[in-house]
Amino acid sequence: MNFEKILYELKDKIAYIGFGFNSSKKMNVLDKLTLTELREVFEIIKKEVEGKKITGVILHSLTPGCFLAGVDINLISSLQSEAEILRTVEEGHTIFNMIEDLKIPKVACIDGVCMGGGLELALTCDKILVSESDNTVLALPEVKLGLLPGLGGTYRLPRRIGIPNALDLILTGSNVRAKKAKRMGLADEVYAKEKLLEMAKSQLFSSAKKLKRSEVLEKMIMKQLVVRKFIFKKARESVLEKTKGFYQAPLKILSVMEAGSSCNRKTGLAKEAAGFTQLALSEQSKNLRHIFFLVEGTKKYKAEPVQDRVKKIKKGAVLGAGTMGGGIAWLLADNYMSPLLKDVNKEALELGLSQASSVFSKSVKKKHMTEEEFQRKQRSISPTLDYSCFKSVDLVIEAVVEKIDLKKAVFKELENYVREDAIITSNTSSISIEKMCEGLKRPERFLGLHFFNPVNMMPLVEIITHSKVSEEVVKQMHAWALAVKKTPIIVNDGPGFLVNRILTPFLSETVWLLEEGCSVEQLDRAILSFGMPMGPGRLLDEVGFDVAVHVSEVIYGQLGERCKFSDLLHNIVQAGFLGKKNHKGFYYYNEQGKQLGINEELKKLCPNKSCKIAEEDIQKRLILPMINEATYALQDKIAEHASTIDIGVIFGLGFPPFRGGLLKYADNVGLNKILADLKELEVKVSSNRFKPSQYLQDMVAHNKNFYN
Ligand SMILES: NC(=O)c1ccc[n+]([C@@H]2O[C@H](COP(=O)([O-])OP(=O)(O)OC[C@H]3O[C@@H](n4cnc5c(N)ncnc54)[C@H](O)[C@@H]3O)[C@@H](O)[C@H]2O)c1
Repeated sequence: MNFEKILYELKDKIAYIGFGFNSSKKMNVLDKLTLTELREVFEIIKKEVEGKKITGVILHSLTPGCFLAGVDINLISSLQSEAEILRTVEEGHTIFNMIEDLKIPKVACIDGVCMGGGLELALTCDKILVSESDNTVLALPEVKLGLLPGLGGTYRLPRRIGIPNALDLILTGSNVRAKKAKRMGLADEVYAKEKLLEMAKSQLFSSAKKLKRSEVLEKMIMKQLVVRKFIFKKARESVLEKTKGFYQAPLKILSVMEAGSSCNRKTGLAKEAAGFTQLALSEQSKNLRHIFFLVEGTKKYKAEPVQDRVKKIKKGAVLGAGTMGGGIAWLLADNYMSPLLKDVNKEALELGLSQASSVFSKSVKKKHMTEEEFQRKQRSISPTLDYSCFKSVDLVIEAVVEKIDLKKAVFKELENYVREDAIITSNTSSISIEKMCEGLKRPERFLGLHFFNPVNMMPLVEIITHSKVSEEVVKQMHAWALAVKKTPIIVNDGPGFLVNRILTPFLSETVWLLEEGCSVEQLDRAILSFGMPMGPGRLLDEVGFDVAVHVSEVIYGQLGERCKFSDLLHNIVQAGFLGKKNHKGFYYYNEQGKQLGINEELKKLCPNKSCKIAEEDIQKRLILPMINEATYALQDKIAEHASTIDIGVIFGLGFPPFRGGLLKYADNVGLNKILADLKELEVKVSSNRFKPSQYLQDMVAHNKNFYN
């Protein structure tokens, strides 16, 4: 029998089911047709088993590096009603139960990505063999989409690897590599990928491995209701601490898994189906799936997949070994680009190297890197005080102090030493890219490459274009940013580029609220309860008050009154408070940077009046100016689409993902309401700072949304 998506072969009474048949795609997914064919093929196998014509089943993939990447997310999003979702999940359960219940041995051979529904399918098999390839990762990442594993994962995984391990995997959605999968009992054996099928055949009929004493003991302990209750109670506490109660999916996972731990398969799966349906319909899951598609969009250049033929960038150099230079050198070394790190004196170089080394050593502590790898990568950074080795460099990232004349002088000198085809970039946070390339001999190979601090933690990178840059160079930098596992957005040149421009009115309004008598604790609390990872007072401490004043002056100078900061921040800087960097911000900090109590001395500089503004009104005062500024950025063509802004604020500012992004949040609230609230604040608070953009007004007039 022929199938479109599945290769079904019968050899020596063994049924081989191969995914990725007739496909040139890099990833296989469980879409509607694949699920239908899976049901059909197993109905055939079931009949043949009865006639003893099939004695074993081997699941495998024809796609190198991918077993199954999970259920097609478009399929989930296409299901609208509760009844439709429930029916689809139950149909999935019926297929997977049929596979599990076949009275012949089944083995899943996994080479590469095996996620979500792919892993749940493997869990219906008696044995799971995985390849030792670096590409082999197993995960149930549904929680990241605000969902739970809906094809039996909540029921089968704890029975295979124990409740604590299963909770860890399902609640974090984290990837498990081959060796760890074997250690935790998820995989039975690890082999070279070329040997997988052969080993599957030879192990198909061998009996299951005997459990170790410790595993038998653990199973016995887990049978105790009180033990299970204790484990779930602790897991719930930990989830609430980590998510601050903002996320529904982990809590639903816990309740489904706890119920499933003491009932039969039928009841357990019914609970899973009900939980999945409820989550799939929630606004939170819709927002998180929306972000998934936005991130997928960043992997394309002008809606086209990134071409493999984009010229590879192999060797990098960083100018300036300060806070950012050290972090960027680390990024290059981590991606095997053996960077040169140039500064003007030895002391600065040592500082940059120690910065990189501290990042690497954290990876060693977390066991993400071996000591040997650490030594190799650290040694691959070559400190230098001159440009003598710059001929070998493909990419230069400038991160010297934020002064336009200095940067221009640096580029002028640099151009004499690099090859004609080397790309030159600047990590400036506020200087116009257009202006910076004025003196360059070849401006077409220059652009802005704005990383966020700390480089190893912040995924976002803004690629800033200008009128003379060549499209090939933009393409190359976009492909490079993806290759070093960053999330790139391409934006046009303009004050503060995109992310800092949107951040500025948020920070500025914070200071105006302080001026009105709000306390910093009140503001931080309000923004934390909106879901941001950090309050605006804490954030200003991190940014540094002097830097905030500098950036605000640049942005105010070009965008005018709506971005004007209150003089209060300037006075705070004058009084010697700079934020975390000198341990004296709105909060005190110790030498290690740990936040201590509130800084009462700084408080004395703020007006001493109590401000009885409601938490919801503080949130409006701080979030609406960001939304408004985002629409000004669209109006000024800094960003082409709302998606660029939402990726920027989520990955650059930590805007809460469960809200789907700043402009998705605006859509969810309703643009009519956003505009009405802005107009109200324009009258009541400031006619400058809350003046709605024409872009927003036009959208409302034409009844449009950012996303449809
Ligand atoms: N710090 C941040 O949070 C942050 C974030 C994003 C972007 N940026 C931008 O990154 C750049 C660097 O910022 P930073 O915070 O790392 O500064 P920094 O002061 O920590 O480091 C600057 C380094 O540049 C070196 N330098 C000065 N002149 C040089 C020259 N001619 N050649 C080589 N090195 C030279 C200095 O010795 C110093 O080590 C700035 O443009 C800044 O706006 C900073």
